[in-house]
Amino acid sequence: MAQEKRNIYIGSAWPYANGSLHLGHVAGLIGADFLARYYRAKGDNVLFVSGSDCHGTPIEVKAEQLGTKPEAVVAEFDVEFRKNLIDQMGFSYDLFYKTADPFHYKKVQKMFLDLYEKGLVYEKVQSLPFCESCNRFLPDRYIEGECPKCHFSPARGDQCDECGSILDAKDLIDPKCKSCGKTPIWKDSTHFFLKLSAFEKELTEWVKKSQGWRPNALNFTLKFLEKGLIDRAITRDSKWGVPVPIKGFEEKTIYVWFEAVSGYLTASQKYSVDSGQPDLWKDFWHNDKALHYYVHGKDNIPFHTVIWPAILMGLGGLELADRIVSSEYLSFEGKQFSKSRNWGVWLPEFLETRDAETLRYYLGINGPESADSDFSWKEYQVKVNTELIGKIGNFVNRALSFTKNNFEGKVPSLSSPDAEDEAILAESKAIFEKVGQLIEASSFHEALKTVLAFAEECNRYIDKKEPWKKIKESQETAGGSINVSLQAVSALSGLLIPFLPRTAEKIRQQLGLPQTGEWKFEALEAGHTIGEPKPLFDRVEI
Ligand code: MF3
Ligand code: ZN
Repeated sequence: MAQEKRNIYIGSAWPYANGSLHLGHVAGLIGADFLARYYRAKGDNVLFVSGSDCHGTPIEVKAEQLGTKPEAVVAEFDVEFRKNLIDQMGFSYDLFYKTADPFHYKKVQKMFLDLYEKGLVYEKVQSLPFCESCNRFLPDRYIEGECPKCHFSPARGDQCDECGSILDAKDLIDPKCKSCGKTPIWKDSTHFFLKLSAFEKELTEWVKKSQGWRPNALNFTLKFLEKGLIDRAITRDSKWGVPVPIKGFEEKTIYVWFEAVSGYLTASQKYSVDSGQPDLWKDFWHNDKALHYYVHGKDNIPFHTVIWPAILMGLGGLELADRIVSSEYLSFEGKQFSKSRNWGVWLPEFLETRDAETLRYYLGINGPESADSDFSWKEYQVKVNTELIGKIGNFVNRALSFTKNNFEGKVPSLSSPDAEDEAILAESKAIFEKVGQLIEASSFHEALKTVLAFAEECNRYIDKKEPWKKIKESQETAGGSINVSLQAVSALSGLLIPFLPRTAEKIRQQLGLPQTGEWKFEALEAGHTIGEPKPLFDRVEI
């Protein structure tokens, strides 16, 4: 029975355009591409967007330190992200957008005004720390002082890293500006607040009804909501960002966590306009049947499960998240990635010498999916050499080379399949449903392990059948098991589409199949001519 096409929206977190990505970032994003490629291969309509998160104080400060403009900082990393994520890692975004774009500004300002007119955004005076020497209001992370609880110094304006207390910058003892060390003054400033409190009930009901969120996202969000929602300021006294679209406040900007999440919608609209189908986004956003996935690291949870849904509820008539795919953290050789301590593996460097497919494999089967996980060079080498090459690559290459060398590159026929042949053939078909279910549930480890187990089964099968011996007695017997093996290779080429798209294509090429595969078993006819067998991967040397 042909299934109806579904509309699948996938939004993955927008990396901050103020530094290179490390493998930990990629670990939190890669599931989005697995999903996008899977659903497309299945024939569903997919809209997969993300982009560079361009605004905020860290970028402003970085530009100042470098003696350049925020635009220049952002442009550099935006280019780098596109190269690393799209060209090299193969992330198949429909649009990788950026928040520093006039179309985004216009749309976000309109959303802001809409909420303002509905009374869901309102103004209020705040007393805020201001550094007279830097001539800037100080965001929490740019004010330091002694912790009033444990007396550790320096504690940040929002939190003490020593005792973990959540702080208010006002309570810090002897506060200082982090950039220049001067004591800030307190100054009144009018800001706009998002009336989160108004959404508490609706959000709680929605979260309780949710299905298929990762447990970390669900638990965190329920606890967050239990504490009660307080209205949050969604504007800042900063010049770099989307200007507040209200007379007299044009010098202020909309807070990144309001404006960046809005990018999920603006990117959808931008893609629609640019691709000449201006209403396309509505099929995803004004459609109850559309399935919405959000993919990010666990530090992003409340922005995707509380703030963004509240904005969408406020705007009205827009689809909310169905699946929240939040990753845990990836460490490097047992310790946290750290830019300041220069500990970790950065993506541009990694990709200079290593095959992106091997990273997709490692993070797919060993990423921080339901618990923190670690990247170590040793483990990476073992996984790639023994699993990816030793099991998958090896089986594919054995079957294809044998065909090339003994059957003139033509699929031999299978005349009387025995139970073992039937078992492999049956699994080659049935496995798509199993692995597909796992991918849809964002259980990528299990999905890949299922594929790997199938490759192991295929290796055992061919070892048992020994076509290299059998061929001396009977072409037909050896040919039968090679036919079955080639059918399994065909299945593998489909199963790898979401995870290792380039490898999947290579296998298809070597099988002599047309370029694009689908999420289904494709049988090879006896007599079909295969392509040129070649090893799929280079062994990893450290
Ligand atoms: N830039 C944020 C981070 O790296 C993620 C933003 S996701 C968005 O943590 F949706 F808000 F854009
Ligand atoms: Zn200062």
